[in-house]
Amino acid sequence: MKILGIEHVAMATDSLEKAAVFWRDILGIRHTQTEVVQSQGVTAQIYDTGHGKVELLEQHGEQSPIAKFLARRGPGIHHVCLQVDDIQSAVSQLKSRGIRLVTEEPQPGGEGCFMIFIHPESTGGVLVELCQRL
Ligand code: CO
Repeated sequence: MKILGIEHVAMATDSLEKAAVFWRDILGIRHTQTEVVQSQGVTAQIYDTGHGKVELLEQHGEQSPIAKFLARRGPGIHHVCLQVDDIQSAVSQLKSRGIRLVTEEPQPGGEGCFMIFIHPESTGGVLVELCQRL
């Protein structure tokens, strides 16, 4: 498993429009796309600093994990995403070391990536996403 860098930091928000005022208008980070990721129940607005992205997440649908997160913890950092070279080999290495994953297998994520979440129980309290660009 090779970690290639921090791909993005994702924030759970009540409202993309409200949250965008800080990231887009005050900080001036370039908005590159907005995408509904059905598999994750989110609408993601992506901002690219050129050296790592910021993703603003809003719930999409009633069963969204973002709605649950907001109810429990309020708006804030939701997860950190690390880019890997080979997600299948990362998953088998993590499983062999007893690391708890949120799903059994990687799934299609945003921006044409393949992704999986590592449970906060195994990471010291932070939801960590691994993604591989296809
Ligand atoms: Co993410």
